[in-house]
Amino acid sequence: MMPIQWYPGHMTKAKRMMQEDIRLIDLVIELLDARIPRSSRNPDIDELAKGKSRLVLLNKSDLSDPEINEKWYQYFKQKGFVTLLTDSKNRKGFGPIHAAVEEACAEKLMRDRKKGITGRPVRAMVVGIPNVGKSTFINSLCKKASAKTGNRPGVTKGKQWIRLDKSVELLDTPGILWPKFEDEKTGINLALIGSISDQIIDEGELAAMLIDHIRKHSPGIMAGRYEIDENDETAAIFDAIALKRGCIKKGGLPDYDKAAHIILDDLRSGKLGRISLEEPEQ
Ligand code: G4P
Repeated sequence: MMPIQWYPGHMTKAKRMMQEDIRLIDLVIELLDARIPRSSRNPDIDELAKGKSRLVLLNKSDLSDPEINEKWYQYFKQKGFVTLLTDSKNRKGFGPIHAAVEEACAEKLMRDRKKGITGRPVRAMVVGIPNVGKSTFINSLCKKASAKTGNRPGVTKGKQWIRLDKSVELLDTPGILWPKFEDEKTGINLALIGSISDQIIDEGELAAMLIDHIRKHSPGIMAGRYEIDENDETAAIFDAIALKRGCIKKGGLPDYDKAAHIILDDLRSGKLGRISLEEPEQ
């Protein structure tokens, strides 16, 4: 995973590129991380994508809690978004994608038909913050798609359309949205899944917050993985995990940094199980 630091310059550039490309498309496919759909969402997209058809994908849904996935699915559906739960890494949840594109673009297709325009493919673009799986999604989706359709006027140099079938074309380069750090919780959630640099928030603090979250929302998981007493104080749990995992410094003291790193790594790789860090009603 590549931690990315965002500076105003980066955001301005990303925004400009998005604005350029978004003019060319009909449909915005917005990828969110299913473990943190709120924190991984850049609310500016609503303004940027004004007037476009929309599709929301809750990606990495293989890493998040199935029950909470369902709640988020309903949440976005109620907001009026056509929504799918996907696992781009393993190409799961892709079945209904064509139907979802059609549903999302139904109004546009109807308008076209009224104007006598038929057979023009829907043009789509994938957007999302770094690390949500945009490239993986595009690659997985296009595995079977036919060759690129070549450069077209108006498309930023170096970008191409990929023809998915006769009715959908996808811009081969995703639009990068910048993460929003509107409140501390958002920053913590982004750091927990590893999408922003751990240097911003101390790993020890992050791991401690994670332990508390998991104890509260998914009882049994910490005890099961690390064979510790979940009801202990956070510091004591840290001690126990460090000792169990052989994270010992010279002189026999527990190496908390190493233990914290193991806990965060276990979350990010899914070894702790399917954990969601946010729920819609929170
Ligand atoms: P981006 O373009 O949005 O920046 O994200 P990218 O596709 O590079 O994906 C970032 C990481 O997330 C990759 O892991 C990728 O394999 C993983 N990923 C993407 N979609 C999914 C998904 O639906 N489920 C799971 N479990 N993982 C997903 P990586 O650690 O960079 O590489 P690797 O582990 O694949 O080797």
